[in-house]
Amino acid sequence: MIKKLTLSALVALGLGTTGALAAGSEGHVEDFDFSFEGPFGAYDVNQLQRGLKIYTEICSACHGLKFVPIRTLSDDGGPSMPEDQVREYAKRFEVFDEELDDFREATPVDHFPESSLPNAPDLSLMAKKRAGFHGPYGLGINQFINGIGGPEYIASLLTGYTGEEKEQAGSVFYENTAFPGGWIAMAPPLYGEDVEFEDGHENDLHHEAADVAAFLMWTAEPKMMARKQAGFAGVVFLTLLAVLLYLTNKRLWSAVKYKRED
Ligand code: HEC
Repeated sequence: MIKKLTLSALVALGLGTTGALAAGSEGHVEDFDFSFEGPFGAYDVNQLQRGLKIYTEICSACHGLKFVPIRTLSDDGGPSMPEDQVREYAKRFEVFDEELDDFREATPVDHFPESSLPNAPDLSLMAKKRAGFHGPYGLGINQFINGIGGPEYIASLLTGYTGEEKEQAGSVFYENTAFPGGWIAMAPPLYGEDVEFEDGHENDLHHEAADVAAFLMWTAEPKMMARKQAGFAGVVFLTLLAVLLYLTNKRLWSAVKYKRED
């Protein structure tokens, strides 16, 4: 009885305190609801397109996506932009052409440029590089239940500014409740109403942060939907196989099992 109690208390403690545990150095990560969570979750094409717009208009001023080929913007399961739009879109970036030994307009076969600000990290894989959920006590139960939480971390980071800033060794740091250590060198990039969407979709800070985080999850894992579908097919196949093997086993042994002693 006591054993059981302690165990459930432990679990409850762990689940309830993503934030409280974090308040120290880990940073507080809010659990955003994303369409791509869970075994059947899928990217929301409109959300990816909104996220791309936010990335393009705001984040790309400092951050790059150097591992992402621009042409993948037209892939199924991604932002699914028509190819002519992708060609148009590519033109806004300049890439260095080794053959020309000069800069030229990007085309869809090029990758997004690298970060233009040297201390701004590349964002291509950021959603897989950061974990939003930890513990309890290094057990990873939170991650098992809530997922790794990369996109949640990014969205929490963008909404986690307190407004405080300090100067240290000539650089300005901004207080942020999600950033480990609490002070980040990135000035708040989003305030809400930073971009306008053609369909009039909400553009408050919370929505913008979630949209750009979803887009960055796609850049980090563009084949997530194909992976989930293959996984599901695999589970169905293995379940059928298990049933058939069980029946075969029963049948093979039935002669032995039901043999009369007399
Ligand atoms: C003015 C330049 C600038 C803009 C614009 C900008 N960032 Fe940053 N960003 C930075 C810098 C600099 C860092 C490194 C901060 C540090 O390590 O303290 C950073 C770090 C980050 C990190 C990594 C945090 C970590 O855990 O290490 C993420 C994620 C991020 N930015 C996302 C974004 C997103 C999304 C946008 C657009 C909405 C954006 N940034 C816009 C400059 C910028």
